[in-house]
Amino acid sequence: MPKGKFITFEGSEGCGKSTQIKLLSEALIKQGRSVLTTREPGGTDVGEKIREILMDPSHVELTDLTEVFLYEAARTQLVNEIIVPSLDSGHNVLCDRFSESTLAYQGYGGKISVEWIQKIDQMARGGLSPDLTLFIDVDPEVGLKRARASAKEIDRLEEKDLEYHKRVYQGYLELAKKNPDRIKVVDGSKGVQEVHKEILDLVKRIL
Ligand code: TMP
Repeated sequence: MPKGKFITFEGSEGCGKSTQIKLLSEALIKQGRSVLTTREPGGTDVGEKIREILMDPSHVELTDLTEVFLYEAARTQLVNEIIVPSLDSGHNVLCDRFSESTLAYQGYGGKISVEWIQKIDQMARGGLSPDLTLFIDVDPEVGLKRARASAKEIDRLEEKDLEYHKRVYQGYLELAKKNPDRIKVVDGSKGVQEVHKEILDLVKRIL
């Protein structure tokens, strides 16, 4: 059986990733393909527990380095427990966030060296790399307003200031520029169906 494809979705808060992942998953299933959708941090029992720690606004004492280790711990668990076995059995895996999130948020947005994160991230991924990464490009100010309007409660990251989220956004653009073959920038300010069509065209090229 041929290996499945590994597709990751990236973007700032409120960029519309979840809607697009759902639409892509439905479209691929309609084509008769096998699809598994997961998310980061999370996707495993251990990872979802780590997510609770990371998203809890009362955890003000978390250090920047602790955050990186927790994201990477959740990642290595997800890669080994779910992603690699699923790809090996021929499923296509759609993942809501992956390595670029840690590089953009904790690296470019926060204070941790991007080079250092890349090293530990490579260990966590065990060499696994996405076949395609879709960066949904939405202005961070617009996205943040959208996320805040729809959130039941504001999590630790949405709480950070606009300057932080602008650095995250610039980080994503830089990462996309450095990896043009794998990371594709999709204009997320267009209508939902238009964005979906663009994503579908990009995905067709790798399937
Ligand atoms: P979500 O809102 O897209 O589910 O993502 C959860 C939050 O976690 C989001 O604010 C981005 C943040 N995050 C990081 O800061 N670093 C990471 O490595 C990952 C995977 C997520």
